[in-house]
Amino acid sequence: MHRPRRNRKSAAIRNMVAETHLGVEHLIYPLFLVEGSNKKIEISSLPNMYRWSLDLLLKEVETCVSLGIHTFVLFPVVDESKKDEIASYSYASDNFYLEAIRQLKEHFPHIELMSDVAMDPYSSDGHDGLVKDGEILNDETLPILGKMSLSQAQAGIDIIGPSDMMDGRVGYIRELLDLEGYTQTSIMSYSAKYASAFYGPFRDALDSAPKHGDKKTYQMNPANKREALIEASLDAEEGADMLMVKPALAYLDVIHLLKENFDLPITAYNVSGEYAMVHAAAQKGWLDYDSIMLESLLSIKRAGADGILTYFAKDFAQLKKDA
Ligand code: PBG
Repeated sequence: MHRPRRNRKSAAIRNMVAETHLGVEHLIYPLFLVEGSNKKIEISSLPNMYRWSLDLLLKEVETCVSLGIHTFVLFPVVDESKKDEIASYSYASDNFYLEAIRQLKEHFPHIELMSDVAMDPYSSDGHDGLVKDGEILNDETLPILGKMSLSQAQAGIDIIGPSDMMDGRVGYIRELLDLEGYTQTSIMSYSAKYASAFYGPFRDALDSAPKHGDKKTYQMNPANKREALIEASLDAEEGADMLMVKPALAYLDVIHLLKENFDLPITAYNVSGEYAMVHAAAQKGWLDYDSIMLESLLSIKRAGADGILTYFAKDFAQLKKDA
């Protein structure tokens, strides 16, 4: 009789034959930055995540580094008064986000810092691209994304993260960065980014929900899988260093598909709604927070993600440290 259970009979054997390993080095921790000082503002739909002012953010990063987290993605919370139709604040010389990039890299030269490139945090329309007569313009958006990326590269960002889903943006940004001498600035492309309701808490955090319409003309239809191959091929061809799938848990098949078809590293964004659901259920005592966190992250890794952007990063690191 075949007895597969023999390979599960002790923790030692189970660990020896474990097929998937997840460590804190695989995780990228999102951080939200707000202008000013001495600010640590709760985000009600994202428990234990805060909008930090730079002074306190520096301390938070120090704590995270001591827990072994070395890669971060930074998002700006921009005051409504600074938003306009062309997202001009995104590349303004006095932009607090760019200043934060400079200071973070100065204080922590060894961390990898990733940005977000899209118009939505800076746009009075709340869309990732330029809006004209209710339409999201593609080619006219590219120069804005280019200016945003170049400003971030000049400030010292390590990885540019285009999350806007405009066609041709990876090639446009790569060419511009190379032309300006930023050949070492990486691009992690949000390749298969779906029009998902799981982004709700993130848009609360940034106050960045679209003022009208939705994002379905540029973000992908959740019904589609083969289309992810088209998006990923274009991004790879245009010079992306890493390909991302987003969200993660409802799209494990897409993560697997990209892993099987591309030699570039694959990353996945375990998004705000996925994190918020676990907190909500744990608060009610319906699920065990730590176990669900570990199982979710492991599943994303098993599906094929090399790196995972996740709000769980700090809790995961703490748990590993205490173990
Ligand atoms: C901006 C952006 C979004 C997220 C990351 N970058 C929101 C959106 O596209 O509407 C979502 C992240 C999350 O939900 O955790 N384009």
